[in-house]
Amino acid sequence: MDMQDIIIRKRDGGALSPAEIRFFVDGYVREEIPDYQASALLMAIYFQGLDRGETMELTEAMRRSGDTVDLSAVPGIKVDKHSTGGVGDKTTLIVGPIAAACGVPVAKMSGRGLGFTGGTVDKLESIPGLRTTLEPEAFMKQVRETGIALIGQSGHITPADKKLYALRDVTGTVENMSLIASSIMSKKLAAGSDAIVLDVKCGRGAFMKSQEDARRLAQIMVDIGADAGRRTIAMITDMSQPLGDAVGNALEVQEAIHVLRGEGPEDITELSVEIAGAMIYLGGRVRTYEEGAYVARQALVSGAGLEKFRALITAQGGDPLVCDDPSILTVSPSECDVIAQETGYIRQIDAEQIGIASQHSGAGRATKEDSIDPGAGILLHVKVGDHVSKGDVLASVFSSGRKKADAAAAQARKAYIIDKKKPEKPTLIKEII
Ligand code: URA
Repeated sequence: MDMQDIIIRKRDGGALSPAEIRFFVDGYVREEIPDYQASALLMAIYFQGLDRGETMELTEAMRRSGDTVDLSAVPGIKVDKHSTGGVGDKTTLIVGPIAAACGVPVAKMSGRGLGFTGGTVDKLESIPGLRTTLEPEAFMKQVRETGIALIGQSGHITPADKKLYALRDVTGTVENMSLIASSIMSKKLAAGSDAIVLDVKCGRGAFMKSQEDARRLAQIMVDIGADAGRRTIAMITDMSQPLGDAVGNALEVQEAIHVLRGEGPEDITELSVEIAGAMIYLGGRVRTYEEGAYVARQALVSGAGLEKFRALITAQGGDPLVCDDPSILTVSPSECDVIAQETGYIRQIDAEQIGIASQHSGAGRATKEDSIDPGAGILLHVKVGDHVSKGDVLASVFSSGRKKADAAAAQARKAYIIDKKKPEKPTLIKEII
């Protein structure tokens, strides 16, 4: 097989055969295909696209390129959850325990964040003593005994995606729906769960800025799930403003506990109930999606979700007292407020600007090698649609030093638009596919 022929066929709008896709992925991982040919093919794909069969074959080739997790030793329908990434999105910390409390085994590997804020693993590590690395046997044992384990990605999962994503990042070829969908789904399929709930974010703080693009991406991922024999639901949800009030690692864990205690902000609480409901439905514990959301809410109200989070923290060596007193988590000492410059209604809190500000505060990484400050971040005091008076505090920034806090607050200020007219609150869940 010849890589040049493959590039030319895709450049001219042809479809690649399964064997050609496998030849490309395997050859690239083995370093038999050089970056310049892989880049040329990625650019051809970027312009010509992939059909459903090609997308599935690419996903499968990447899934098979490394280790895959075998969860068959854990009884029950294992359900995974994935968010395409948003600012203030701490839902995994909430929906995992709720679904597990309702009898759905959750064996989840999460990433560290690169970009605005930390990932789930960074957030969990702000809990004193908590381990996010477990050997496969211990991981499986914990899921069997506790019903849930949340750990960092271990082993050698989808090396092809890692290599291709890094190449896409520097060749202007990230933003292709089939490439994004196959990248995400290859990792989800390798992680071994039987069913998957996808939270596809849309809006200013998300990868997909429009609902139409989010829908297209969601549909491709749902199709991949179906073709791979994994029941998959995608929700398209709002990311025009941050989710919840807290952005940052310890701050987000505190907020997740508040939600599990029934005292959290409305938007993150509602979204968590819906996602957990979908997991409970796919996990076969109820007959309808609506019943799943009802059961999830019951687990929140009864405290069963919080007790499951406590069990998870204890099993992974963390201090379970955070569930009783979230303020024991250290928040960075330097505080700088963002003040309203005029009176009116909050029309916009640009999630992307808040994300950049939280990175300036120390809560996110600019490069993989950067360390993050678990106590840094931003607490929002108002959301879109709220009325404020000139001089009110819109948000507080926490950082390890005054200079950083001031810079982050100056950045956060850019996120706000205040208007005389009361705006509509954004619809949180836009579509379910
Ligand atoms: N996230 C991924 O994992 N892959 C992509 O291609 C884009 C976002």
